[in-house]
Amino acid sequence: MKVPLLDLTRFNKEIAEEWLVQVRGIILSGRLLNGPYKKDFEEKFSQYLGVKHCLGVASGTDAIFLSLKAFDIGHGDEVITHANAFIADIEPIMAIGATPVLVDKSENDYGPDLEQLKKAINKKTKAILVVHLLGVPSAMEEILKVSEESGVPVIEDASQAQGASINGKKVGSLGKIGVFSLGPVKNLRAVGDAGAITTDDSNLYSKIVQLAHHGEKSKYLHTIYGWNSRLDEIQAAWLLFGLKVLDERNKRRVDIYKRYKEAFKDLPLVPMSESINGESVYHQGIFYANNREAFKKYLDEKEIGNGSYYPYPLHTQEAWSHAKLPAGSFPRAEQYSKDNIALPVFAELTEEEIEYTISVVKDFFKQ
Ligand SMILES: Cc1ncc(COP(=O)(O)O)c(C=O)c1O
Repeated sequence: MKVPLLDLTRFNKEIAEEWLVQVRGIILSGRLLNGPYKKDFEEKFSQYLGVKHCLGVASGTDAIFLSLKAFDIGHGDEVITHANAFIADIEPIMAIGATPVLVDKSENDYGPDLEQLKKAINKKTKAILVVHLLGVPSAMEEILKVSEESGVPVIEDASQAQGASINGKKVGSLGKIGVFSLGPVKNLRAVGDAGAITTDDSNLYSKIVQLAHHGEKSKYLHTIYGWNSRLDEIQAAWLLFGLKVLDERNKRRVDIYKRYKEAFKDLPLVPMSESINGESVYHQGIFYANNREAFKKYLDEKEIGNGSYYPYPLHTQEAWSHAKLPAGSFPRAEQYSKDNIALPVFAELTEEEIEYTISVVKDFFKQ
């Protein structure tokens, strides 16, 4: 048997026919952008998250870029994020001419180390970009305290955590701004690139709307330089199907991971610290193996999909070499990147696939 790490086609098949009828309608209407599907998605996603405003944009990378612009961040400013985040968390900071400042991964979760975060804040710091990696909520209560004391706003990157929550509140609704990639491999996903920005602050929302539409104040009157970033009607229509079943599909991920955890409890395979701050949605089902390469080779041979998120911390990427942060600068992020291995947890896995994955993993450690 072959078990994929993620098979998009299974869910896609379920909704393709109904969606294609809508696509036909969208195309024949000629209303491809800024139409009723985008508006409907923005309303339903903001209701789902419990926020006042949501703007659909073209990608998660754009969502981060526009959020930084909304705070007027630019040359000479610093934005703090964590070394185990994704490259798209750094790129927009670089693109606007600001300096990304890294701190290590927290010991307890996948967000920033709190002590290092406090120490990194100075007069130049204009935002803290917290990433809820792997579907696991970061320690928002403590991070928001740091934000309050320092006056530095928090942008939450919930691209990997649609539906994750802390004390009943959804991540992406807790900081000043929430950003989401809704790209094709996310828990809530489009059939191409897509993203969203959320906020309770009406002034910030108006500014983000303007920035995402070429800085236009009214038709052809541009009072600021902006960008072009819009969630199109075809993607919005698809996302509405996914949003309806997001919670039930997230629950299935939780159940699958719990099955693995129980089955592997006597193996030298350490589960992730998944729900220390709230409810995780298991964007990835990570375990730690100190012999990862041999384990990975075995899984590959047995055709069990697996991955690493991520195998290289940001400061060890060649693209980051300008900052001259040597290996060893963020030991927790580095150790994590060496040990982590993801097993299949997507909602449409069959019982046979789950059982087979469990038996293959157990066989490896029996050897
Ligand atoms: C945590 C995180 N932030 C940002 C992004 C960038 O999103 P996009 O690919 O939609 O530009 C991703 C996408 O993989 C992500 O995982």
